[in-house]
Amino acid sequence: MGDEEKKSRRDFLQRASLLVAGGCGALAAVEVVVASLPPAAARRDYFSVGHLADFRHGTLTFLPQPEVFVLCDDRGLGAFSARCTHLGCTVRRSSQGFQCPCHGARYDEQGRLLAGPATRDLDWFALHIDADGGVWLDRRRRVPAGTMILPELPGVKQS
Ligand code: FES
Repeated sequence: MGDEEKKSRRDFLQRASLLVAGGCGALAAVEVVVASLPPAAARRDYFSVGHLADFRHGTLTFLPQPEVFVLCDDRGLGAFSARCTHLGCTVRRSSQGFQCPCHGARYDEQGRLLAGPATRDLDWFALHIDADGGVWLDRRRRVPAGTMILPELPGVKQS
């Protein structure tokens, strides 16, 4: 490991420790996924879900528009739909995770299907972080359940 790499790593750890009191922006101690945002012209299918500072570690935030939950935990930040995959009713929190009020489908805390009549998990969507820490949801791009991103820290070289 060269001096420059050691310095970069030390700077990175210092910045990460300074951000511990913050939200998901502090979760950069493990593998970091750089999430870039496309040019403005291609963003019409992107939905702003807030800023990195809005999301606290260990929280699940419901956003009524566009009916998604944003999960912030040790793995980073992820988002999944609140719409039941059976016929589209909005699920509600339950002791096991989520339950659909329409026909009773149940999902665990990450939207994985526990009981029908739905036949698949809640939909997870790709998230992107812009240069200002804005968090954007890509409504066109579904990702496997449990997919999380770790926000990039500005000025820190990613490995
Ligand atoms: S719409 Fe959710 S179980 Fe039917």
